Amino acid sequence: MTDDVDKTADHNRKLFIETVGCQMNMLDSELVVAALRKQGYELTGDVQDADTILFNTCSVREHAEHKIYSALGRLKFAKNARPGRVIGVLGCMAQKDQELIFQRAPHVDLVVGTGQLAEVPRLIDEARSDRQRSLAVSLDRRDGTRTTVAESFQSYDPLREPAMRPSPYQAFVRIMIGCDKFCTYCVVPMTRGPEQGRPPRDILHEVRVLADQGVKEITFLGQTVNSYKHQQDGRTWRLADLLHAAHEVPGIERLKFVTNYPRDMTDDLLQAIRDLPKAARYLHVPAQHGCDEVLKRMKRGYTVDQYREMFARVREALPDCAVSSDFIVGFCGETEEAHQRSLDLIRECRFKNSFIFKYSPRPGTKAYDNLADDIPEDVKRRRNAEMLTLQNQISAEDNAAFIGRAVQVLVEGYSETQKKQGLDTPGPKQLTGRSMCDRIIAFEGNPRLTGTLVDVEIHDVTPTTLIGQIVTRAVQHGSGDLLPILV
Ligand code: SAH
Ligand code: SF4
Ligand code: F3S
Repeated sequence: MTDDVDKTADHNRKLFIETVGCQMNMLDSELVVAALRKQGYELTGDVQDADTILFNTCSVREHAEHKIYSALGRLKFAKNARPGRVIGVLGCMAQKDQELIFQRAPHVDLVVGTGQLAEVPRLIDEARSDRQRSLAVSLDRRDGTRTTVAESFQSYDPLREPAMRPSPYQAFVRIMIGCDKFCTYCVVPMTRGPEQGRPPRDILHEVRVLADQGVKEITFLGQTVNSYKHQQDGRTWRLADLLHAAHEVPGIERLKFVTNYPRDMTDDLLQAIRDLPKAARYLHVPAQHGCDEVLKRMKRGYTVDQYREMFARVREALPDCAVSSDFIVGFCGETEEAHQRSLDLIRECRFKNSFIFKYSPRPGTKAYDNLADDIPEDVKRRRNAEMLTLQNQISAEDNAAFIGRAVQVLVEGYSETQKKQGLDTPGPKQLTGRSMCDRIIAFEGNPRLTGTLVDVEIHDVTPTTLIGQIVTRAVQHGSGDLLPILV
């Protein structure tokens, strides 16, 4: 813990937090926990032991919300047994459901939306002292002008406590909040508010502070990260400018950014990645569907041909760049033929991986109001399985091309397999890390290598992982991460 912890605070405070959803939520939880640690809270993994219980929630699919509502339901008895406990719901579901959360789970004390997270420590204290419920949310998008709604969503980016990062060597940095694309299936424009870029000087200050703390890999976050725009000192900053500036920060070895919007994949961005050796050769650019009719109903703002054109420019500028995608199956009116077009796009683009989701109608979205959710669950499930099978086959085939070659890996620590087997086993440990093209690599090594860059020669693969051995001899580094072994 750092020296500026409030010594007057109650040091017996135990905090349990569960986080679901995307990287934005992981970052928000990290920052909320850091703020609470400064007030003397300690983290516990045991909900029964906690006197403050927080859920940082996601509304993107119904399933994510169910999970949280059932967890809240289970806490009713825990609350009755110890009424002094504070239970809080934070994040996207808090912004979306607001009062409904108190109705469905009357034992909840706090509901705090994504734009009000700075208030969490104060609201917990108030809930503990006056036992009043509180609701802190931003304006609904229909309840004000764009400016007033935007002002009610505040980006939460205090300086952090190094001890709270999942890894000392990697950090997320938010460059923008919100989304203005309004895809018809998606709640994010409602839960995260209007698209707003953070000032470049704040972002770069954060990058420098993180680098001084030992961070080597920065991942810039935004719902449509490549749409970033900000006016500062009489010029417009875009993502490419931020990458150039962050590239100069001493100590930073890798720069990544997620998630990209296909229409904003500009040539200046592709050139920046090509020219900056620390920029990852990896782009997550969700296509969502392979059929024009469906893309139109989703209001994605591009046709399949426009996606193909973007993809061809990526391949041209960055031949060694891995591209991954998201797809939704079973969207309203998706015919068997339309589904085949999505399979065709996976075949054609050969994505590194694809996240495939069954369409889940979300109240508050255009699709929910205007389009029937007419694809039966068993059809959605079958199409989902077909997409996954095809993508896995492609991932396995393309991963096999790495066999016999070496890749540069930023070591992240013990692999999940090693953690399951326990860390006290004798002999070398299985470690894991990622390559510059975001592939997961598993290999044996000394855990002290965590946070360093090593070269690993690949000798086996699965659809999701490359498996190899550390190369101790010198390997010549090129611009990408697919390195020929020198024999
Ligand atoms: N901002 C990102 C992703 C946001 S949500 C982007 O625009 O790409 C992450 C993914 O969840 C989306 O890419 C989409 O594939 C999926 N998703 C969003 N809403 C959904 C819904 N209602 N049902 C199923 N999947 C959904
Ligand atoms: Fe949702 Fe579309 Fe915005 Fe992505 S771009 S967050 S899918 S509305
Ligand atoms: Fe979920 Fe909110 Fe992220 S809805 S995907 S946690 S922006």
